[in-house]
Amino acid sequence: MQHRERKPFPADFLWGAASAAYQVEGAWDADGKGPSVWDIFTREPGRTFQGSNGEVAVDHYHRFEEDVALMAEMGLKAYRFSVSWPRIFPTGRGAPNEAGLAFYERLIDALRAHGIEPVLTLYHWDLPQALQDEYGGWESRRIIADFEHYCVTLFQRFGGKVKWWVSLNEQNYNLTNAYQLGTHPPAVQDRKRFFAANHVAFLANATVIAAFRRHVPDGHIGPSFAYSPAYPASCDPAELLAFENAEEFTNHWWLGTYCFGRYPRGTLAWLRETGEAPEIMPGDEAILRAGTPDFVGINYYQTLTYTTNALDGVTMQRINTTGEKGTTPSSGVPGLYRTLPNPRVETTNWDWAIDPVGLRIGLRRLSSRYALPILITENGLGEFDTLTEDERVHDDYRIDYLRRHIEACRDGISDGVQLLGYCAWSFTDILSWLNGYQKRYGFVYVDRDEHDPRDLRRVRKDSFYWYRRVIASGGVDL
Ligand code: NOJ
Repeated sequence: MQHRERKPFPADFLWGAASAAYQVEGAWDADGKGPSVWDIFTREPGRTFQGSNGEVAVDHYHRFEEDVALMAEMGLKAYRFSVSWPRIFPTGRGAPNEAGLAFYERLIDALRAHGIEPVLTLYHWDLPQALQDEYGGWESRRIIADFEHYCVTLFQRFGGKVKWWVSLNEQNYNLTNAYQLGTHPPAVQDRKRFFAANHVAFLANATVIAAFRRHVPDGHIGPSFAYSPAYPASCDPAELLAFENAEEFTNHWWLGTYCFGRYPRGTLAWLRETGEAPEIMPGDEAILRAGTPDFVGINYYQTLTYTTNALDGVTMQRINTTGEKGTTPSSGVPGLYRTLPNPRVETTNWDWAIDPVGLRIGLRRLSSRYALPILITENGLGEFDTLTEDERVHDDYRIDYLRRHIEACRDGISDGVQLLGYCAWSFTDILSWLNGYQKRYGFVYVDRDEHDPRDLRRVRKDSFYWYRRVIASGGVDL
């Protein structure tokens, strides 16, 4: 369906950009911050590209005023960032670290002073190491009370100033890497433990959403989900079944549980047969039902294409840490499906499908299945960028990528999707977890020149000026 005339973006559309604490802040042990699991994990040999880590990152902790000034210059309407739990509670719980709270207060105030709406993510993977050591982090129900205490501390302190909140960022992707692929801390490969950790995370997510309603009744909250809509490889019924299985296991397992407060029954029955189902205690589903979100946040990068899995049954592509080429992992289910490259779409230098139509398809699927507003919490292109001698970055490939995805948003809105906003990933360049600093996403280039790694000079890329025009025109001038 193509509309004769696309609907405009709503006047209050959240034109945004995003980041996450570990990827930008640096200052890893400043002002009383405790270590996170990422601070420790990245020190283990071979875990990340050339041993890169976020100890300095782009030093946003010390340069946030300069960064917010750039956001204001760009005309951003919203900035999504995450709070580092171990900055607030160095050992995960107990008394809050006032210096940590004060940092975020300054950031939030600076944003608001420029009319930029803060979108605060409560958890973007940097678990306090102390909680991992003490009880195994997300594998223990003890984390639920500690997470609630941390979140309520933020609701009480910032609830009057921050109206948009994201609960867990990419529970699906993070825990798949952490407990199936072994590429994120604690680097486990065990499907039973994977589903158990997810169960605890679902309970924690719902618990803090319920608490949010009490503390910030006029705010909006939802999780951000790593959403890769599934495609069948062909119209072979067997492949269609594989695709449906993949949709159920890789998307609906999470989204259905978040949005309906109830595990999808078919998938649960399957997991009971394989012995991998989480232990659901009496009262657990009541907790899930009491903490459903206001919106679905999606991090959209690509679609994944599925076929049957007759071979060894497990479809786990490994993230490659060499930084040359890489693939996105998908959680595989023995016997049900496996991914394969889609010959109809181009890919990035990291082999991620570039598929703006897939975004429109995904928005429509989500909207009809979950009937909630949608916030795009991330979308962007990770590429090598070149800083020219005259201090420019000509990233026309990024502009092209973003333009086509924003057009897909307009199509989605015309299709009837209630789209709240679009947060491009990312504002400045960031640390790309396993891929170091050469996979760049930002509108603002950060120079990490090896001769002077602490320079960290900010340079506006061509995409910076382009997105400024897009925002100023309300999405008309693409
Ligand atoms: C999603 C994650 O939330 C973010 O931290 C990461 O950098 C991007 N994906 C790109 O891989």
